[in-house]
This record gives sequence, C-alpha cells and structure tokens, in this order.
Amino acid sequence: MTAYAYNAWYPLAWSRDIGQGISTRRVLEEDLAVYRAEDGTVAALEDACPHRLAPLSLGRLRGNAIECGYHGLTFDCSGRCTVAPGMARPPESFRVRSYPTAESMGMVWVWMGDAEKADRSQVFHLPQYDDPAYSVVEGDALPVQANYLSLADNLCDPTHVVYVHQTTLASAGREETRVQHERQGNKVVTWRWVIDGPLIPIFEGLKDFGGNVDRWHYYHYHAPSIAVIDFGSARTGTGAPEGNRDDCIQMYACHFITPVDQRTCVQHWLCLRNSPADPVIDERLRSNLRMAFDEDKRMLEAIQRNEDKPREWKRVHLGLDGSSIKMRRIVEEMAEK
Ligand code: FES
Ligand SMILES: [Fe+2]
Repeated sequence: MTAYAYNAWYPLAWSRDIGQGISTRRVLEEDLAVYRAEDGTVAALEDACPHRLAPLSLGRLRGNAIECGYHGLTFDCSGRCTVAPGMARPPESFRVRSYPTAESMGMVWVWMGDAEKADRSQVFHLPQYDDPAYSVVEGDALPVQANYLSLADNLCDPTHVVYVHQTTLASAGREETRVQHERQGNKVVTWRWVIDGPLIPIFEGLKDFGGNVDRWHYYHYHAPSIAVIDFGSARTGTGAPEGNRDDCIQMYACHFITPVDQRTCVQHWLCLRNSPADPVIDERLRSNLRMAFDEDKRMLEAIQRNEDKPREWKRVHLGLDGSSIKMRRIVEEMAEK
C-alpha cells in the first residue's frame, strides 16, 4: 500500500472530455461528479449526496447546479445546497465537498487536499506547450491496472527501453550507457546520452542527419504524478552534449498520471515536438507512442498481478533503482505533509 499525497494538483481528465454533461472520475479512491459550469470552469463534487449517499452523477444539471436524482437536493459548484424540497432554506450543514480545479495543457487538474492550500499558479505547465516552434500530439487516457507508482518507476527509468520497446523507442542492440540521476526539489531527473548511434525508429522520417546521431534522454519526474521525458537527437559531433542543439529533433513526452486507487491509474499522455504539425507524421507518431505505452502497460499490469499474489519475496536491487527510490521518497514526504 502506498500513502497518497493529497496536497498536490492531479490530472483529472482531458479538457476535451469534460463537457456540460456530468462525468465521473475516481482520484485517490474518491469518486467525483465532474461537469463544466456555464462560465466554462470545471466543477468537481464529491459524488455522494449527504442525504442517502445517492451518487450525484445519477442526478441532473440545473444550470450551474446538480440536482440529486433521488429526492432533489441541489448543490452548486461550491458544494453548497441551494434547494431542499420541503424547506424554505437549506441549512449550511447540507453540503458536499467541492474540489478546486484548474486547466493547463489541455488537461483538467484537481486538488484533492486542503482547499485553502490550492494555488492555481502551481498547476503544471510546460513552456514549450505555448511555443509556436513546437507542435502537439494529444494522446489518450490509457487505463493501467497497476499502482501509479509502478508506472512512475517506469517513467524514471531509461534502461527498460531496450528490453520493452525494441520496435519503437530503442535502437538496435544493447546499450551500456551510464544513467545518472539527481533530485531537484520535488523532482527527480534521470538522464543518459547515447553518443554516435543510429536514429531510433520513432524519429525516422522526421529529419535526415545523413549518419549517426548523439541522442539524449532526460526523464523529469515531478512528484507525485507527472513525468516529462525530453528526448532528442542531433548529428554526431555537432556539440549536442555541450548544449548546441540548434539542428535537432526534440520531443517532450508528457505523462500525466491519475492515481485512481492502489491498483489502478490512468496514463494521460501528449507529445510535443520541435517541428510543424503534419497529419501523416502526427498519426504515425501517435500510433508508435500508443504501441510503446501499451508495451509498458502489459508489463506493469503483469507485475501488479504478481505483486497481488501472496509470496515470499525479497527484492533485489540494481543500480537503475536509484532514481525511483528517490522519487518514492519524495512522494512519501509529500504524503506526510
Ligand atoms: S439521496 Fe440525495 S436527496 Fe435523497
Ligand atoms: Fe516505457
């Protein structure tokens, strides 16, 4: 069992998936009724009426308020009861919990902790998302039947790529390149370089370097549930490791993870790249990334099934575990606050 860090902004849903009807989402084991109010903001209410615990999501929207489908108690976006059948004025105690929300990068974010600590200026935003030099491929909301920290382990770990993603993200052959990592505040950065190697399959057709490349992978894990993988290639010998990346392919694969419960999470992903949008390339990229993330999902779900079986197990450690150990420590620290 892992403890949850409540005071954090969590990915809730793609903005495109939240309209003016009522949707449901589960985050940190809490069920939410989610809808877009008339001013466009997103309301997230506890999905249980204080009268008999009927899910409010079985009710109906009345303007900006949600009417319980059982006996009609009605709650506004702040969770305050505005209508109680048979009562002139509902008492203050008739309330449901309302969770602060915000939108950034095409995603609705929710704050599951103390509402007074929610600071919308802290919602995750990658500056390149607004940079016209980058185009965006928005991906899916991929359900993964595994603890979200197991997915987080995977997103702090460049070494699995050659074993799990041979047809998409890896280059041919084994790569014994050194992986380094470092904690920076509530983030762990894990990185490695491959010098003078072939282009990886997913980059083919994006740029012709006429030979081998230097390739970087920086895995930024922002605890508790955001990963941004900066990966790219530049022609070998042009100084990319020293910082000259003027003529390169660069991508940011962003993973916004919703922890649903101890055995389920949703992986929302999008990819930014430093070249113009192109429907054919975008579709190819989307399907390659889908294939890659399905490969991770298959592995992580199988691991979860093994973890769920009663067994005597003493974990052995490898050098590559350093960054995920640091990442999990940060989540624990956040959970204690
Ligand atoms: S259960 Fe909601 S009003 Fe009765
Ligand atoms: Fe992977």
